[in-house]
Amino acid sequence: MVLATAQPPTRETTTPIESGPISGFRLPKVDPYPETMRMNVTVREPNQPRTVYEMVGGMEFFEDLTRRFYLRIEEDEVLRPMHPKDLAVSQRKNALFLAQYWGGPATYSEQRGHPRLRARHMPFPIDKEARDRWFRLMKESVEESEIPEAARTAMVDYFEKASLTMINQGDTATS
Ligand code: HEM
Repeated sequence: MVLATAQPPTRETTTPIESGPISGFRLPKVDPYPETMRMNVTVREPNQPRTVYEMVGGMEFFEDLTRRFYLRIEEDEVLRPMHPKDLAVSQRKNALFLAQYWGGPATYSEQRGHPRLRARHMPFPIDKEARDRWFRLMKESVEESEIPEAARTAMVDYFEKASLTMINQGDTATS
């Protein structure tokens, strides 16, 4: 269908599309929220999870994930020395950050401000080896979790990319 005029709409020619003809054509009524968009954007089926945070079971999952991850850090000869003596504090910060990132409450930012993760990691010498170790431990922690496969894949993908951006030493440093 060719619209009669290719002119940009002016005050005179602009008519709400629900209500009438434009230059002799009656446009179909447009549903601003078609069925195909409803599932993804605003309205969901009742009881359907809305965010990854909800899909995996909320804060309890992120507490558990980070607990298992820091048990692995505890054993890692490269990563352990970078961390403070009390890993419980690191664990808590990470749990809150990840919960917030995946759609949960913004407690991390309320307590710690903007994440600025790359900047916060600058004091630690993160080369490719440290990154690979960190990513492997996190990947193992995610993969052993009993959560929907889609959430597992999304998290592993995210950690793979995010951990690369923390490298600040050596050839592959991004700064
Ligand atoms: C690439 C390898 C990485 C290493 C070696 C590493 C190491 C560290 C270390 C030593 C700390 C300080 C511990 C503390 O503040 O208690 C830290 C803090 C933190 N890391 Fe990492 N990290 C890495 C990647 C990541 C990634 C990919 C994320 C998130 C996706 C992340 C999230 C955090 C958060 C949220 C904190 C706490 C920041 C704060 O002080 O509020 N880290 N990390």
